[in-house]
Amino acid sequence: MVNVFNNYLLETEIKMRVLLLLLLSLFAASWAEEQVAREPRVVEMTIGVDMKPPEEWDSLPTRNVFTSWMPIPLDHFDPHNSITFNMKFMFNEEFFGGDGSPIFILVGGEWDINYRWLLAGNMYEMARENKGYQIYTEHRYYGETKIFDEFTTENLRFLNIDQALADLAYFIVEMKKQARFANSKVILYGGSYAANMVMWFKKRYPHLVVGSVASSGPILAKVDYTEYLEVVHEAFLLEGGEQCISHIRRGIDDTLAALRTESGRRMVEQAYRLCDPLNYDNVFDMGYFAGLITWSFSGAVQRARPGTLLDACNHFQAGTFGSTPMEQIGGFIAAIQGLSGNGCWVITYEALLNAYSGRTNSRAWYYQTCTEYGFFQTAPRSGTVFDGLKWLDVDFYTDICLKNFDSRFNKDFILAAADRVNLVFGGLGPEVNNTINIHGYIDPWRALGVYKEDISETSPTFTVNRASHCFDMQAWLRTDTIQMTAVQQRARRIVASWLSQ
Ligand SMILES: *[C@@H]1O[C@H](CO)[C@@H](O)[C@H](O)[C@H]1NC(C)=O
Repeated sequence: MVNVFNNYLLETEIKMRVLLLLLLSLFAASWAEEQVAREPRVVEMTIGVDMKPPEEWDSLPTRNVFTSWMPIPLDHFDPHNSITFNMKFMFNEEFFGGDGSPIFILVGGEWDINYRWLLAGNMYEMARENKGYQIYTEHRYYGETKIFDEFTTENLRFLNIDQALADLAYFIVEMKKQARFANSKVILYGGSYAANMVMWFKKRYPHLVVGSVASSGPILAKVDYTEYLEVVHEAFLLEGGEQCISHIRRGIDDTLAALRTESGRRMVEQAYRLCDPLNYDNVFDMGYFAGLITWSFSGAVQRARPGTLLDACNHFQAGTFGSTPMEQIGGFIAAIQGLSGNGCWVITYEALLNAYSGRTNSRAWYYQTCTEYGFFQTAPRSGTVFDGLKWLDVDFYTDICLKNFDSRFNKDFILAAADRVNLVFGGLGPEVNNTINIHGYIDPWRALGVYKEDISETSPTFTVNRASHCFDMQAWLRTDTIQMTAVQQRARRIVASWLSQ
């Protein structure tokens, strides 16, 4: 009797305390929300690549790599113009075998060059095996090789592939004036846009290099690039199976349905952690919102290593990103983009234009997409999970060219620009010798590369299942497949054979 009574008292007390705690925490939460400012963030497209060294290289020491600068003609094709700019490059001579030993040049693309790439990775292994001198060149207009104080459209007119390849040619000829390099053979290694560069360099200046290694080169310029998101879909299907696809499909379909009602829109704003309601009537604002979704999925795929996409799929399965299918997509985006706890997304077209307006790598690369490559990652029309995000069309991407650069950069202009690049370099038929052409099958960029057959008898293609963008450039990881490692070794053998001829 006494016991029961005591228990009753105890239970009541616990209930009261729990209630009190709940009230307190509710109060504290709303108080915290007002006190801690939200951190607005903008998301950038996956249209450009930032070749950051893998995290596992963070602890590499800074020894052995040095930075230098070389004066280079600003305009290689105008003899009246004698202006030069200073091009940044890095070098590591720890393996150099002396006079006539080979030079390995890692070619920079639309990013800042980083010394760690000369301390690890597949080119580093090649240099070690062949007593090579390692160099990393920075692309004009990127990193610290910005040339101009302002990136006006006028100032960007010296930014193009022809000038960039000529920079490399000039650089190699200048280096070879040093007696120790007079008889050195040169090998180029490049990934992503820089893979195009090394392949096209071998084609245009075959007398300056014995061979190139092209990692994940999208060598076909294309404006309406629907295949990109098709491969993103396929990557999740291959790594996570039908079940994973249906989780993503439900989340995106629910979002599209919710966008049609007022109450649904409030749910979208919350699930996606938006700072403010979207401008629902503006197709470009909606395009940016669609991009928040697709660029997050494609970012995960571009950086994938075996197991990482399955890991994301397991989170969808377990419901750890959120409770409803739509909240799962919002939570996935926050996780993959590293959005802080009180962070929120600024999704206005104005903010997007602003992200491509400064003196940045992003703006320089966007200029190159408007004037050379397109590469606009539009919503597919083939039954993928992304098909419904129709705001992501050519007009959306083209409008950024018009507003941020020049009112003449319309769709016809960009189509003609891409045609010109394909005319000059041969598109998917580059007819180049001594270029190793490597692709990852789940890399969305491989759809604009030659990945099914060899380019020529001396330019073999290796396409590796489960591998993604530029996988071969990195160092061995425990999660790498045997096939990934084997292709890295094949490339090293072929390079060694070029050097021994
Ligand atoms: C590539 O090499 C083959 C065989 O040596 C040669 O016949 C062909 O002309 C070369 N092609 C180019 C574009 O140099």
